[in-house]
Amino acid sequence: MKLNDFKLERFFARFEFTAPYLLCTSDCESFTIEELLALEKNAGEAFRKLHLGYTETLGNPELRCEISKLYTNTTPDDIIVLAGAEEGIFIFMNVLLEPGDHIIVQSPCYQSLSEIAHAIGCKVTDWSMDAQNNWELDLDFLKKNITRQTKAIVVNFPNTPTGYTMTGEMFNKLIEIARQHDIYIFSDEVYRFLEYLEKDRLPSACEVYDKAVSLGVMSKSFGLPGLRIGWIAARDKVLYKKIASFKDYTTICSSAPGEFLATLALRNKEYILKRNLGIITSNLQLLEIFFKKYEDLFEWVKPRAGLLIFPRLKFEQEAEAFCLDLVNKKGVLLLPGNIYNYDNHHVRFGFGRLNMPEALAKLEEYLEKGII
Ligand SMILES: Cc1ncc(COP(=O)(O)O)c(C=O)c1O
Repeated sequence: MKLNDFKLERFFARFEFTAPYLLCTSDCESFTIEELLALEKNAGEAFRKLHLGYTETLGNPELRCEISKLYTNTTPDDIIVLAGAEEGIFIFMNVLLEPGDHIIVQSPCYQSLSEIAHAIGCKVTDWSMDAQNNWELDLDFLKKNITRQTKAIVVNFPNTPTGYTMTGEMFNKLIEIARQHDIYIFSDEVYRFLEYLEKDRLPSACEVYDKAVSLGVMSKSFGLPGLRIGWIAARDKVLYKKIASFKDYTTICSSAPGEFLATLALRNKEYILKRNLGIITSNLQLLEIFFKKYEDLFEWVKPRAGLLIFPRLKFEQEAEAFCLDLVNKKGVLLLPGNIYNYDNHHVRFGFGRLNMPEALAKLEEYLEKGII
């Protein structure tokens, strides 16, 4: 299999650990091990005594139990723990798809959601969100593009990079379309639980459709990407077994310290999510003021969930040139839309970090210089 460069990761590799103001990151503010261990009495001692042998291939049973509680109708037997969400995408695509198959992928998207299928030799149809209409998706387009070769519909709500989330009504229709055609839904739910109002939280796809695979991770909503713990929730037993067998060729099992800390974090998820949502909603208020002030330069869609937005630049300079000049002059990193194979006139903002107000102030300094 020949994979093209992962444009987003290559772009981040240049700046992520050198630019002081990351204004486009896709995760929430993280925690230290010390902070996590302080969440429970005796956790520190238990962590120090942790055995560092191989762990169970499907994932630590206690962790799978905590993960299964995130869904209404899954059991630990429906959960496989993986090395981040990325391993879940890689394995799902590899076990499901053959050359010549067809998948439909919400677009723009996190590149691996379409790239791996391309590399396998599949036909990939982009199901584009409409920038002119608040990033809405068109279900008629979806219906018209399903063929006998279509194996899966790939979606991501809340979405990266746009922040878009469907309504519950549309989501039900989407599930019905997949059911009628008996095709899989691969639902990337790495930003789930970051809805500003609980009523906007969609059901997890695996809760409502037995041929749905839900992808979760500790990296985004929980702010713990360094754990490298993700998972797949799937009630389809045939697919589940294939995913478990494939894992023998990728990571075999997860890291024991990662599993320990993920279990601890999930037992304390209310605290962690409340803290993270607090940071996000307070940053969002600042962004509202910012986009009002600079409405001649940016057009944005205020999201109902998550920590990402994908505003359009209303000036002539291309997004990549703008981002490079900004990071070189002010150390503020934004992500240009062309790395999503999208146009070069949108940029991704991420607002899950505690230092977002400072990063935004630096961006303002840059804009006030009248460079654009
Ligand atoms: C939508 C989406 N899915 C999956 C991933 C991969 O997550 P992880 O780094 O935890 O493997 C990302 C990371 O940015 C993402 O944005």
